[in-house]
Amino acid sequence: MTYYKNVVVMLILFAGMAGALVARTEVAERSGGKLPDGRAVAIYTLKSDKMEVEVMNYGGDVLSIKVPDKNGKMADVVLGFDDPSGYYEANHAKGNPYFGALIGRYGNRIAHARFSLDGKEYALAKNNGENTLHGGPNGFHSQLWTGEIIPDGVQLKYLSKDGEEGYPGNLTVTVKYTVKGNELKIDYVATTDKDTVLNLTNHSYFNLSGQGNGTILGDELKLNASRFTPVDAGLIPTGQLKPVAGTPFDFTKAHTVGERIQADDEQLKLGHGYDHNFVLDGKGMREAAEVYDPASGRVLTVTTDQPGVQFYTSNFLDGSLSGKGGVAYPRNAALCLETQYFPDSPNHPEFPTTELKPGEKFHSTTIFRFSTR
Ligand code: GLA
Repeated sequence: MTYYKNVVVMLILFAGMAGALVARTEVAERSGGKLPDGRAVAIYTLKSDKMEVEVMNYGGDVLSIKVPDKNGKMADVVLGFDDPSGYYEANHAKGNPYFGALIGRYGNRIAHARFSLDGKEYALAKNNGENTLHGGPNGFHSQLWTGEIIPDGVQLKYLSKDGEEGYPGNLTVTVKYTVKGNELKIDYVATTDKDTVLNLTNHSYFNLSGQGNGTILGDELKLNASRFTPVDAGLIPTGQLKPVAGTPFDFTKAHTVGERIQADDEQLKLGHGYDHNFVLDGKGMREAAEVYDPASGRVLTVTTDQPGVQFYTSNFLDGSLSGKGGVAYPRNAALCLETQYFPDSPNHPEFPTTELKPGEKFHSTTIFRFSTR
């Protein structure tokens, strides 16, 4: 009798384990057609029991993130285009928003498009006035990555050649997008054969009410940052690490994004809203930010091991870009939380270093977790 009981218990356990296996993330690949220049694009769908994410090998773009609201209704919470050609055209037009893109070799700006390393000066491609932005005009956002399905996700690989956009060293970059339950995890790994600098991030534009649904000014934001890096008129950090206390930059307790965005504050004027790097408190994997949208009940929690996060309220969107379904995206249609090293670090030895040397392995992780309240 005990024998049969044991067998039954084992069968139940086995069924339970099989159930857990079934709940694995399903990953599928489909054609994304061809870019206007003829290259074939692949789109990967990562589907768990809680969310669905689409990633494209062109630009390493996150195309969509579908998550439930407090009533279980699914919506796509990131801005973008309907077709890969939309991303291609935006990459070749003025005022590129970098929707969902993998950013490199250097996220955000490097002043005067130059820096020195080991006593040698490097000139970079200018694409933001005198400065370089997001790796230059042919940064990682406009490259075709090699995609490979891995458990729970997709791995994208790209070799950035020595001298590309002015940066030294052959840099091999591997980015893994994986989905587990309600979490999208991004792992960045890079190695080089010459001393170089790098700053990798993802440029997703979140609107937790669903993309195309108004602005994010009513979202409640918490940032685990007691300091930020003020900027000059070119949005280059001055070098100061300024306490947020008593300023509209204090999100250590939740505030709506719109509460102080119009305040009479020099930094908000220079950024045309929030477009600043926040210095994250603590070290190692820790919570960086939480966004709560009272309308849908959706909550986004960002965890990272990076020293900073660029909080950008899509101030350069002005309704002239038509996104998914032909919807015009107005100013403040979304917010970006770009986990990163500080902008212009190669010209600020006092900032955490962005240098990578041969034999070293750069590794960084950011997790976007979606829940409801
Ligand atoms: C970053 C920058 C902004 C802007 C966007 C892209 O967030 O800090 O100034 O360039 O990228 O539009």
